Amino acid sequence: MTEATTMELIAPGIWRLRLGEPEPHTPVGLREIPPALDALRELPAADCPFRVEDIATQAAPRGFLVEIPMDQTEDVYGLGLQLKSVKQTGKKKTLRMNSDPVVDLGDSHAPVPFYVSTRGYGVLVDTFRYADFYFGTHVRLGTPAPDATPEGPLATSTDELYKQRALSQRRAVIEVPVARGVDLYFFAGPALLDAVRRYVLFSGAGCLPPLWGLGVWYRGSGQFTQDEALALARGLRQSRMPCDVFGLEPGWHGHAYACTFAWHSERFLRPQEFLDAMRQDGFRVNLWEHAFTHADSPLRREMEAQAGDVEVWGGAVPDFLCASARRAFADYHERQLVARGVAGFKLDECDNSDFIGSPWSFPEYSRFPSGLDGEQMHSVFGLQYQRTLYDVFQRRDQRTYGQVRASHALAAPYPFVLYSDLYDHLDFIRGVVNCGFSGLLWSPEVRDSRTTQELERRLWAVVFSPQALINAWYLRNPPWKQIETEKNNRAEFMDGWGQVEARCREILRTRMALLPYLYAAFARYRLEGVPPFRALVMDWPDDPACRDIHDQYMMGDDLLVAPLLAGSRGRKVVLPAGAWYCFWTRARLEGGRTLDIPESEERIPVFVREGALLPLAEPVDFVTQETCFRLSVRIYAPPGGPCRPCTLYEDDGETFAYEKGQGNRLELSWDPQAGPRAERRGDWPGRRYEIVEWC
Ligand code: GAL
Repeated sequence: MTEATTMELIAPGIWRLRLGEPEPHTPVGLREIPPALDALRELPAADCPFRVEDIATQAAPRGFLVEIPMDQTEDVYGLGLQLKSVKQTGKKKTLRMNSDPVVDLGDSHAPVPFYVSTRGYGVLVDTFRYADFYFGTHVRLGTPAPDATPEGPLATSTDELYKQRALSQRRAVIEVPVARGVDLYFFAGPALLDAVRRYVLFSGAGCLPPLWGLGVWYRGSGQFTQDEALALARGLRQSRMPCDVFGLEPGWHGHAYACTFAWHSERFLRPQEFLDAMRQDGFRVNLWEHAFTHADSPLRREMEAQAGDVEVWGGAVPDFLCASARRAFADYHERQLVARGVAGFKLDECDNSDFIGSPWSFPEYSRFPSGLDGEQMHSVFGLQYQRTLYDVFQRRDQRTYGQVRASHALAAPYPFVLYSDLYDHLDFIRGVVNCGFSGLLWSPEVRDSRTTQELERRLWAVVFSPQALINAWYLRNPPWKQIETEKNNRAEFMDGWGQVEARCREILRTRMALLPYLYAAFARYRLEGVPPFRALVMDWPDDPACRDIHDQYMMGDDLLVAPLLAGSRGRKVVLPAGAWYCFWTRARLEGGRTLDIPESEERIPVFVREGALLPLAEPVDFVTQETCFRLSVRIYAPPGGPCRPCTLYEDDGETFAYEKGQGNRLELSWDPQAGPRAERRGDWPGRRYEIVEWC
């Protein structure tokens, strides 16, 4: 083992340690958005969590090895969108891009080589390689043994046999294949959340979606013609089911799998008419695509000129690291689609095929003109795809909110939400819990269901998530009319579906009531790097009860969400120390304990932190440029005490003008003597909020 030499301060509370000779293509090397330095300067001063001499390295034929000390009590989290576990202590993970993470080995739609510790620091390993992370799993030969514990009886089960033995020393060991060196970035605390914030701000800060993006999303059947899509959308309006974004699935393309990016000549004969009609009814249209470019696509020639050497589904795989391919792809999307009214995209299949069934994506041995191999390209492909299309919206001064199936390090500024073909409900909740550690967003979308209870429970989790998405891509009718796929597609509706629809409407209206609160949470993501969705350990790192929680999370600063899982018979909810209020009944509950929620509970368990001022809007069916939310501000004051102030953000909700100061802050405060106060700061002339009551 050799020791490294220099620890370089590169931004407030962030240090780089260059070890050996890093590869030329890395996440930091390819970054495009600079760190948010002003916001970083606002964070408390803190020392570098490690000294150079703490870190050991080794260049070996397998790659480059790094060892970072851990103490006996800390726990680590992160590594991107891990759907199978939250706490990573004691685990070995291989960060491999994969669309089918069915076991807890590190495969992920967003394998981000960044982790944070309850000791209050973060580490970014700047690589696109499928690196292995071992967190406190092994010690080197010759390390003194832990204090002798008497040998117990011989194990009688495999669980018992292989459970982790105590180690006298813990280290994070990271093996980066192929490389002869790597840069490490250390993010100081002092608290775990500060380290996460530094990472988000180092990435360039979190994204701020357009206001409409936080409303309800509905994706219709991939087989729809334009008339069918329009009819369904109009049905949503007539039945007052809130919906802001309507998504078209593969069928809009002349050919899909691979894509033409041009409208289907029969299904979408008059696309402009369709887009105009949708817009008139208040919908934003989002288009599905993947980047593999079909031989008949108007983009084929330009994409083929800068493509990988292996095709996917007959499509050319564009190298978005080549400026000309990227420009041609973006220009085409702008001219043909965005300028005509398309509000965003769903970037599918940019991850990697599963390793279980038939592999469909480009192999790791592929070569790309930019010099990357298939392994590196898999890590960066989704991120580069987001950048390519985000350019279009930025230059038009138009915000977007989209979907993407792959991401990687430093992705926080890109307004795309991850999703998956998997459907296990607990995995989907874990995605919400985990995404915040790595500056990611995740959507636990709802599709079909086995029971109406499952539909409603899934929908509840969806409305308390970064993107409220109903992905009915294989259903011709909304799932509340029929939960079973085949019957749904034959238009055989459930008996009493109207009641299910009415309950689903209430669930979706809850989302719309939360829009101002959510928008404020995203504004904090953008301005201060605080993730809008967070595992409980981020806010309570020292509470042992919070370290293992993988099915509860914070939404914004004041709402603790504990979804009921599909099929479960009730659940336990950990309430951290302090007092809480049931969101539904407003009953006050002492924290620092575990609650039992019975199976009969119909609504999602949500708790409000004492001292909160919670603005709730009268729900609208969709957001327009003129929408002014009528707010009831709920007061959750401690007995005899004041509430914490709460800031709402007001702007056009659609452009980047807020970055130039075109927005207001509405500061809400309440104390028992002075009562309620609302103060508006800023000179944006519009109004997004009108307070109708304090209650
Ligand atoms: C999948 C995607 C689904 C849906 C489908 C359409 O890859 O995950 O959400 O879009 O493609 O073919």
